[in-house]
Amino acid sequence: MQINPNKIPNHLAIILDGNGRWAKEKHLPRIYGHRKGAHNIINIANECSNIGIKFLTLYCFSTENWNRPESEIKYLFGTPIKYYKRYKEKIWNSNYKINIIGRRDRLPKNLISVIQELEEKTRNNTLLTITFCIDYGSHDEITSAIKDICLLIKDNKISINDISPDMIENHLYTKNLPKLDLLIRTSGEQRLSNFLLWQASYAELYFTTTYWPDFNKVELNNAIINYQNRNRRFGGLYEDN
Ligand code: IPE
Ligand code: IPE
Ligand code: MG
Repeated sequence: MQINPNKIPNHLAIILDGNGRWAKEKHLPRIYGHRKGAHNIINIANECSNIGIKFLTLYCFSTENWNRPESEIKYLFGTPIKYYKRYKEKIWNSNYKINIIGRRDRLPKNLISVIQELEEKTRNNTLLTITFCIDYGSHDEITSAIKDICLLIKDNKISINDISPDMIENHLYTKNLPKLDLLIRTSGEQRLSNFLLWQASYAELYFTTTYWPDFNKVELNNAIINYQNRNRRFGGLYEDN
């Protein structure tokens, strides 16, 4: 089956899961899985732009991943820095716009400077917007939106009756992103693990048992074809009914 070019999801999100199990199956340390997983990001981003997807949002480090051993966390935060140093010119010239969302106050300073430079240098790129979710969790995101809105009320800038779903959306970290069409999770787990809980309200969900380091073009195409065969009703009725 072929991808239908007229029904491409505009916004795809992926929970990149299974790096550790990928490595374990090969009797390798977990970090080898993270390394292979990091390499895979650019392959899949390129495939997404070839297909015509405009927004790709990737869950890379959750607010709960702080529960992991310090050495693993250090490796996970070191990886984007290492890759950025090696590939920055390529990234700047790729026409990919890079955003990072999530809490910034707990990230290492050298990672924050890389994030700021990445966002600044790719700000005007238009081909594909890639959003990396780092120290991201939906509960934290929604809590922070509620606090912002409460402050507006406290300062008499809005009244309680002004609060609407649109206003809440405009206070989420994802405020600049369009509605989510398709959410993929690799590795066989069938849960959202605190990812895009608000935004996924009418997204199509797709689960594959493939570990993230092995998730490739064929897998991506299968997910998109599967998405294209869904009936998205948004609470209404499908035309044929
Ligand atoms: C996903 O792979 C990467 C992160 C969560 C940072 P995991 O590290 O969760 O891999 P598994 O689930 O243990 O196999
Ligand atoms: C979700 O994966 C977080 C990321 C992929 C960044 P986890 O491996 O942390 O999720 P659980 O613990 O299996 O729910
Ligand atoms: Mg996992």
